[in-house]
Amino acid sequence: MTIDLFTPLAVGPLELPNRVLMAPLTRSRAEEGHIPGPLMAEYYGQRASAGLIIAEATMAMEGHSAFIREPGIHSAAQVEGWTRTTEAVHARGGRIVLQIWHGGRACHPLLNNGLQPVAPSAIAISGDQIHTPQGKVDYVVPRALADDELPAIVAGFRLAARHAIAAGFDGVEVHGANGYLLDEFLRDGSNQRGGPYGGPIENRARLLLEVIEAVRAETELVGLRLSPLNSYNAMRDSDPVALASWLADHLNGTGLAYLHLMRGDFLQQQLGDVLTPVRERFQGVLIANMGYTAAEANAAIAAGAIDAVAFGTAFLANPDLPERLRSGAPLNTPDPATFYSPGPAGYTDYPFLSAAA
Ligand code: PHB
Repeated sequence: MTIDLFTPLAVGPLELPNRVLMAPLTRSRAEEGHIPGPLMAEYYGQRASAGLIIAEATMAMEGHSAFIREPGIHSAAQVEGWTRTTEAVHARGGRIVLQIWHGGRACHPLLNNGLQPVAPSAIAISGDQIHTPQGKVDYVVPRALADDELPAIVAGFRLAARHAIAAGFDGVEVHGANGYLLDEFLRDGSNQRGGPYGGPIENRARLLLEVIEAVRAETELVGLRLSPLNSYNAMRDSDPVALASWLADHLNGTGLAYLHLMRGDFLQQQLGDVLTPVRERFQGVLIANMGYTAAEANAAIAAGAIDAVAFGTAFLANPDLPERLRSGAPLNTPDPATFYSPGPAGYTDYPFLSAAA
């Protein structure tokens, strides 16, 4: 039998009915206090037919916000707010994990009561700007974290995972991608520190592996997202394939339920193939992401190159994406103008197939 997007897949303790996953997408719809409200519950509930929803990047700790109106999971009110979302998804038969993150140097004082962002090294994001309540501004130079500050960050991720389970999530995805804190430690363009957390790959990966171990103590279902090639957020590594290969080798045995790999670069500057070396080395479930069509996804799964695909913009515009891909129905077109805008427009009003009939 050919394996494709519609073949069930075991991920940790879950049995996914299909391999059309929803990628984590920052949508900036949380309420005051970084609290997820009913609108977010409706949005995720609409997308419950995904094999697995990976809910958007969510602040593991207070004071490290990188986006306006992003959700958190560090306060009791946030945990309660998220409960609405997990109930909405589970009531429709779905499965949902929460992506937990620390924004690192991509945070801004204007989003964090004046707090200076932190990072492995005091190197700012250049060549891009950040949206704040006062408009677009340059990123600031972060403060380099001391080694003895890192246990509190590991503990913060662990507590976030505990909160996520308390809120009803089926597990968590650790955000190790896209130029946020854990990725900043991994790549040598942003990590120029010495000591146990800088220098060779095994040191740059230390914080990530400590976080995975800590989070794994809270839940059986821990995924990890990586983007070794992505140059978004001014990220660089001198050898992304070596980094990806080392990680794939050393993630075996950590109890990860899946590895979620962005295969390329948002900005198309760093070319290369990280999927093949990771597939050769990593023994667990491999989810790929970035620009897949259904045909390409089916072919890659059938060939054994990957196990599943996370769809981003296609899923935000098509609440019933699995059904559309299965039947070959036309897709709604995503509207970038409403990706981060407040309210239901461009969020919960994309039509279902049945609504169009
Ligand atoms: C974004 O909204 O631009 C964004 C958020 C989180 C990511 C990547 C991009 O990991």
